Amino acid sequence: MRILVTGGAGFIGSAYVRAVLNDEYAGSADASVTVLDLLSYSGNVANLPMQNPRLTFVQGDIADSTLVRDVLPGHDAVVHFAAESHVDRSIAGALPFVTTNVLGTQTLLDAAGAARVGRFVHVSTDEVYGSIAHGSWTETWPVAPNSPYAASKASSDLLALAAHRTHGMDVVVTRCSNNYGPHQYPEKIIPLFVTNLLDGMPVPLYGDGGNIRDWLHVSDHCRGIQLVLEKGRSGEIYHIGGGSELTNRELTGRLLQACGADWDLVRPVADRKGHDRRYSLDITKISDELGYAPRVGLDEGLASTVTWYRANRDWWEPLKTRGAA
Ligand SMILES: NC(=O)c1ccc[n+]([C@@H]2O[C@H](COP(=O)([O-])OP(=O)(O)OC[C@H]3O[C@@H](n4cnc5c(N)ncnc54)[C@H](O)[C@@H]3O)[C@@H](O)[C@H]2O)c1
Repeated sequence: MRILVTGGAGFIGSAYVRAVLNDEYAGSADASVTVLDLLSYSGNVANLPMQNPRLTFVQGDIADSTLVRDVLPGHDAVVHFAAESHVDRSIAGALPFVTTNVLGTQTLLDAAGAARVGRFVHVSTDEVYGSIAHGSWTETWPVAPNSPYAASKASSDLLALAAHRTHGMDVVVTRCSNNYGPHQYPEKIIPLFVTNLLDGMPVPLYGDGGNIRDWLHVSDHCRGIQLVLEKGRSGEIYHIGGGSELTNRELTGRLLQACGADWDLVRPVADRKGHDRRYSLDITKISDELGYAPRVGLDEGLASTVTWYRANRDWWEPLKTRGAA
């Protein structure tokens, strides 16, 4: 099997590629992988086993139709991670989000259709639903995104589903909750806080710290994506969640403890514009149909993540110096 992985040099895409090449999934044992990645600020070849003979790396833009039409033929599946992924950056400037997340996705879909690749897994986010005060979203919930990032992801989800309904393409969409784990660029809350705290630096906590997120270890996310690639029903949406909801204040407390730091390093800052209050996914569908359940508990996952950042300063220090945080 030949799998094209877009955004495979980023945090989640590279975790998926490493798992495939380590033969962690029975359904993709011996699969070969082509990574197509622009190497934007968050893409990093140090995340990938570049010497592995089953890996081909192509540096390029998913919105480059000539390149994409050249690269796609011969692949059996596409797993599409490439995106601009940080909400704060989308608030500062939304255009790159539209170019990559919307135009880039349509460019890929067009090329995948022309090349008649098999399954196209479009990786998306719970943020497309907006915010929910009580209960959890099911896959039939209407999208109501608030940030430019979430709006661009919702747009690309709709285009991916339209390619299935209009052209009969074998498309499946996944929507997952907040990921954490090793190799995450130190701008998102967990790696930003951990790397600051390990250096004895303060951490910024938005607003009243009461925003609630569901936390999912990246390995559980990637396993869910693989289940969807192998067994998901065409044209469907599947949620992938962690079942670990915490306020940002609660998360901060756990990170302080894991890093051996105190609350005096926490600096309350003005809230993010349009900050969604709570995300919550119902994962009954993927659990019942595909047998998915998260395996990494939050305590264990946070502890191993902090251990990884402690042990891999040479990975994150240059990124912070370059201006990630
Ligand atoms: N991180 C999360 O918590 C989370 C949660 C839900 C969904 N997602 C989705 O998962 C996917 C991956 O997120 P991530 O956290 O790994 O992001 P990331 O920013 O770490 O990685 C994105 C990758 O895409 C590449 N890229 C960006 N623009 C590109 C372009 N035009 N052409 C080719 N490559 C390009 C980057 O170089 C990078 O390697 C995204 O689609 C995101 O929306 C992420």
